[in-house]
Amino acid sequence: SIDKKVDSLLAEMTLEEKIGQLNLPSAGDVSTGISTNSGIALQIKEGKVGGLFNIKGIDKIKQAQKIAVEESRIGIPLLFAMDVIHGYKTVFPIPLGLSCTWDLELIEQSARIAAQEATADGIAWTFSPMVDISRDPRWGRTSEGVGEDPYLGYQIAAAMVRGYQGNDLSLKNTMMACVKHFALYGASEAGRDYNTVDMSRLRMYNDYFPPYKGAVDAGVGSVMASFNEVDGIPATGSKWLMTEVLRNQWGFDGLVVSDYTGINEMIAHGMGDLQQVSALALKAGVDMDMVGEGFLTTLTKSLEEGKLTVEDIDTACRRILEAKFKLGLFDDPYRYIDEKRSESEIFTAENRAIARKTAAESMVLLKNEGVLPLAKNTKIALIGPLANNVENMVGTWSVSADVDKSISIYEGLRQSADNSVNISYAKGANVVEDAKLEERISVFGKNTYRDNRPEAEMVEEALKVASQSDVIVAVLGEASESSGESSSVTSLELPANQRRLLKKLSETGKPVVMVLLTGRPLSIKWEQDYTSAIVNAWFAGSEAGSAIADIIYGDVNPSGKLSMTFPQNVGQVPIYYNHKNTGRPLEGEWFQKFKSNYLDVTNEPLFPFGYGLSYSEFEYGEMKLSSEKLKGNDKLKITIPVTNTAKIDGKEVVQLYIRDMVGSTTRPVKELKGFQKLMIKAGETKEVTFTISTDDLKYYTYDNQIDQNIIHTWEAGEFQIMVGTNSNDVKSKMISWKK
Ligand code: IFM
Repeated sequence: SIDKKVDSLLAEMTLEEKIGQLNLPSAGDVSTGISTNSGIALQIKEGKVGGLFNIKGIDKIKQAQKIAVEESRIGIPLLFAMDVIHGYKTVFPIPLGLSCTWDLELIEQSARIAAQEATADGIAWTFSPMVDISRDPRWGRTSEGVGEDPYLGYQIAAAMVRGYQGNDLSLKNTMMACVKHFALYGASEAGRDYNTVDMSRLRMYNDYFPPYKGAVDAGVGSVMASFNEVDGIPATGSKWLMTEVLRNQWGFDGLVVSDYTGINEMIAHGMGDLQQVSALALKAGVDMDMVGEGFLTTLTKSLEEGKLTVEDIDTACRRILEAKFKLGLFDDPYRYIDEKRSESEIFTAENRAIARKTAAESMVLLKNEGVLPLAKNTKIALIGPLANNVENMVGTWSVSADVDKSISIYEGLRQSADNSVNISYAKGANVVEDAKLEERISVFGKNTYRDNRPEAEMVEEALKVASQSDVIVAVLGEASESSGESSSVTSLELPANQRRLLKKLSETGKPVVMVLLTGRPLSIKWEQDYTSAIVNAWFAGSEAGSAIADIIYGDVNPSGKLSMTFPQNVGQVPIYYNHKNTGRPLEGEWFQKFKSNYLDVTNEPLFPFGYGLSYSEFEYGEMKLSSEKLKGNDKLKITIPVTNTAKIDGKEVVQLYIRDMVGSTTRPVKELKGFQKLMIKAGETKEVTFTISTDDLKYYTYDNQIDQNIIHTWEAGEFQIMVGTNSNDVKSKMISWKK
């Protein structure tokens, strides 16, 4: 058994070699990898490295593996990792976009393909899925997550783990997943990255923990600690989080890795010097130290001073060795290094076709006054700073992508149009007005969009192109690096220069279709008055351009639904559908004095969670319940007929929400409890059925108000059952459920 193998290996290892296994350096440059003479190569020889990341290309990986296996005393193979976040070379939509497909099979398949491609190139460990719930679009990393909902997040996390890991980690084409960032990283105050998090334990358990637990329940092999503090203790040093919740309560038995220098950063958090924080992290349950070398340089001293035990080090080392055994690296250290697979299994036509399909499914039609879909002979004026740009298609965290192989929107439309001459293009505006801001956005040098012509000249050119068209397609939004890590913002509006362009375009009197590229919900209320249709296309990956063409021309009927609320303005943030009722809810007309509402804007979002239009129309009939009075182990069957009243086949995501009317602690006004994505043919009616039990009514509450121990339970009483096309637009009935 693996246990025995690990025991005998541990018995052979020196203390230094054990500590070496806990060290995870970055090879430094994702595109160049290491050189034999670098410090890292020496460290590998000395047995001071357990794994490596940011190394790209099987030649370099092979070279590093050879050093570990042949030149280090103990010969333990290295574990190679990478941030394969939404695809490897075949890039899928950013995770926030993926979550808007509400298609778990497709999401699983995207992770499957990412694993197939990455493992063909030597990578056996991905730092994905990232499933931090976020209710604050100012936070740049909302783009990497699953949106705002714990139930959807749980399902997606599990689907991604299944996709990456398959049923057998030792297969050549499966890889170990790493759920991150544990925990609560998406709740940083004011949406500023790395900022303080402070929340009640009930909120953690009910709203923020479920997606991480989804990954653990699906058997995820590893977990990454988050940078933020959790209840006053940095997550990386929190034994409550890393051991009590993760291992004792949830039964996780894999390895925990810190985030990049996350251990060292506890010094700045005010938790002590490097020796202290390293011991704190190890004791808390962190096994592997990413980049910071706190473990490598201080654990021996802490051991000598009696601050740690050999068992503490053995425990961490054991978990890393176990992962390597599970991945089959001891059977064959070169298992994932296969030149043939690398040449034939990456960025294949088949993978790209699935990426295209996924991309189209991730797009959310936010508005359509009947202008879409366009006929393929429509004369289109394609305008905008992001319309003819390959770099901007793939989105954040596409470290392995060959961006120049992605399809721009211009190219995608030209390829799908009856005749490519029907598409004319003009840039019209810079992506942001402020050159300094653009420099900060393009810190990795990826996005060099700047056009130094005066604005008036660019607009004039755009208007000229527009004048020869039937329809204007304006591609506006953010540069892809405006969201992602360390890309938080305080404004959710389109830059003023893009707005000026849009206004001018709308003044031509031609219909304007806005294609929005964004990594976060934006407040685009103003834009509604200047557009006939809005397609939110996110950053949809390698095939984004073709997928956008599929939507615009109606080759694919849009079916994406928002996984995160779009606010009317930034002042409404945090705004989310599953909020509490408060003691003074606004019922009826806005505005009411001494009710929970604003003077200047209603409580409504611009677009609610679960929202998304289709070229079809779906009519929801009468909801029927198998019973309105239930007891104990009964099951409730909810059925509702949904009719596609249009002349075009379409997919609808039918959503089930429940409200627990009275609880021992306060309950949200509604919570997603189920969904089904169905193809409904033109004119067809489908009877949709959900079956729920008391398991679906469970939530985390206190066993009693004094001790406040948290229990997972359901409480008898009244429940409101809601089914609909989005979180706002539902049919509803009451039931009672007794013990
Ligand atoms: O995986 C990432 C993490 O999401 C943010 N910090 C760096 C890690 C490794 O690149």
